Amino acid sequence: MLTGKRILLIIGGGIAAYKSLDLIRRLKERGASVTPVLTRAGEEFVTPLSVGALAGVKCYRHLFDLTDEAEMGHIELSRAADLVVVAPATADLMAKMAGGQADDLASTLLLATDKHVLIAPAMNVRMWLHPATQRNIATLRADDVRFVGPNEGDMACGEYGPGRMAEPMEIVAGIAAMMGDGPLAGRHVLVTSGPTHEPIDPVRYIANRSSGAQGTALARALRDLGAKVTFVTGPARERSPGGVDIVRVETAREMLAAVTAALPADAAVFAAAVADWHVTNASGSKMKKDGSGKAPAIEFAENPDILAHVAGLKKNRPALVVGFAAETDDVVDNAAAKRKRKGCDWIVANDVSPETGIMGGAENAVTLISATGAEEWPRLPKDEVARRLAARIAKALGQETAEGTTDKGD
Ligand code: C5P
Repeated sequence: MLTGKRILLIIGGGIAAYKSLDLIRRLKERGASVTPVLTRAGEEFVTPLSVGALAGVKCYRHLFDLTDEAEMGHIELSRAADLVVVAPATADLMAKMAGGQADDLASTLLLATDKHVLIAPAMNVRMWLHPATQRNIATLRADDVRFVGPNEGDMACGEYGPGRMAEPMEIVAGIAAMMGDGPLAGRHVLVTSGPTHEPIDPVRYIANRSSGAQGTALARALRDLGAKVTFVTGPARERSPGGVDIVRVETAREMLAAVTAALPADAAVFAAAVADWHVTNASGSKMKKDGSGKAPAIEFAENPDILAHVAGLKKNRPALVVGFAAETDDVVDNAAAKRKRKGCDWIVANDVSPETGIMGGAENAVTLISATGAEEWPRLPKDEVARRLAARIAKALGQETAEGTTDKGD
């Protein structure tokens, strides 16, 4: 499945480097060629000899290995690949990548490459959770670096938590998806995200606190499973992901038009926090105080319900329609009623009471509601919620293909 694909594999200095030896074998079994690069710290964990022997080619180590231009120069090396993979990606290597440093062969290749980069982080849980690493993660994601893992579990250092490198086969799956071979390859998934802005006059608008974080994470996770993603976003704080078709809109009515134009799709996920109303008497020029102390009367009309509209389509209805329900009380009951009322297949319900810190925060605690019941998920980072939901969507669409029906109760 990876026949003829060229992978430049950078092995960083962590105990997980031993798993990279197996990764080389798995990639080669699938027909890929692997050009390995070992950092100085990586050499403390695995030897250039074993890496080179498994890859069947020279293991590159030092920037100045490449000064002899009879050999491949570092720019050429960074480009002569279909994909650059960093496994393990240590906290230090990620910091270098985020900061654009180029003081050794690995960091120079990462700065010089024009190819996509997939990293498999591996580090102690405290290092992973440290604000500096979290800042670097956000920067790397914004730079369109793809991640696989880290997983949560027991660590070589005796602690427990996120930081374990993804298993070799998980990395292979990540690589395959980036090569257009994931479980959602050939599928089109539509995602709405962010708030909408409803103008009052040319400088003022009605909005809400949605950051777009959950919808953005979801678009990324679906993309990482190989889907073609159309990402229809309101004016969100979160930077939009790379590798997806982005349609920027402002109002709910524009969002509906963009969604309709993007159909057909295999699945549609409505993560946007759409304003319920728009102002019907919005002024064409800036409204001014007239000195009378009287506030202007703003009149509202209901916005179209985009989710309900798409879920009710006779023609072009996606096989799987997923809505979100941000509630502050009776979350599950309200969301289950909403699923029926809107005619969607799944509702992802969450409690956005201010004390949860979920709206605009980094974590989410959701309940997935389908025709067969409610499944409560633990409180997780929004990225992890997105990965789990994307995997469920892939499974549901896979079953639909296999059985000719959608198992919407999944
Ligand atoms: O009715 P409520 O706003 O709680 O419904 C939330 C769900 O409906 C979300 O999935 C949201 O994206 C979607 N929605 C929509 N169009 C609207 C209002 C909500 O697509 N006008």
